[in-house]
Amino acid sequence: MSIDPALLLAVVLGAIAVVAYFVFASFAFGAGYQPTPRRSVEAMLRLAEVGPNDTVYDLGAGTGAIVFRAARTYRARVVGVEVEPIRFLVLKARRAAGPFADRIELRWGNFYSLDFRAASVVTAFLWPGAMERLRSKFEAELPPGARVVSHCHEIPGWRALTYDAETDVYLYRRPAGATPGAVRTGGG
Ligand SMILES: C[S@@+](CC[C@H](N)C(=O)[O-])C[C@H]1O[C@@H](n2cnc3c(N)ncnc32)[C@H](O)[C@@H]1O
Repeated sequence: MSIDPALLLAVVLGAIAVVAYFVFASFAFGAGYQPTPRRSVEAMLRLAEVGPNDTVYDLGAGTGAIVFRAARTYRARVVGVEVEPIRFLVLKARRAAGPFADRIELRWGNFYSLDFRAASVVTAFLWPGAMERLRSKFEAELPPGARVVSHCHEIPGWRALTYDAETDVYLYRRPAGATPGAVRTGGG
């Protein structure tokens, strides 16, 4: 059986287009797609001391590396926000297949439009520009004492309580009162 080269080319180009869309479509919103590495997920949730009384907001939930771990292992209530529709459908399918659906709320949309006042923990694996843009929302909306854990990128102008160099995770706590400090401390 011979394969039409034109058909083969169309299939290959179609597959490349789908993968490129999946990875790059959300660039304009603040980050492309890359799942948070397992060790970094664990470090983020452990450093933030996530527990059953927490409401974790995962900004850019992807396919759920943080969302499902936080709900399953740490028994937290989780709000996962994702702008890219295919990943959002994956999240919904994973939630439907698992036993923790009642703890997981999924929102399809842009996290810049979100209200953070109900969050006790925010998790993020985004790009520097997104962290910069989110800072003013964190300062305006996060309750005092809320923790923010970020993989790879700092919140510009905030002071990290801890930086775990092995997993590249920054831990912050929203202080009561004024704007958080301007100098980062910790290793790395
Ligand atoms: C690096 S991935 C992180 C995935 C996920 N947090 C995880 O643990 O694997 C970043 C995700 O953020 C999403 N994203 C980027 N900008 C967004 C925005 N403004 N609102 C909602 N989601 C966004 C992307 O579509 C992508 O899935």
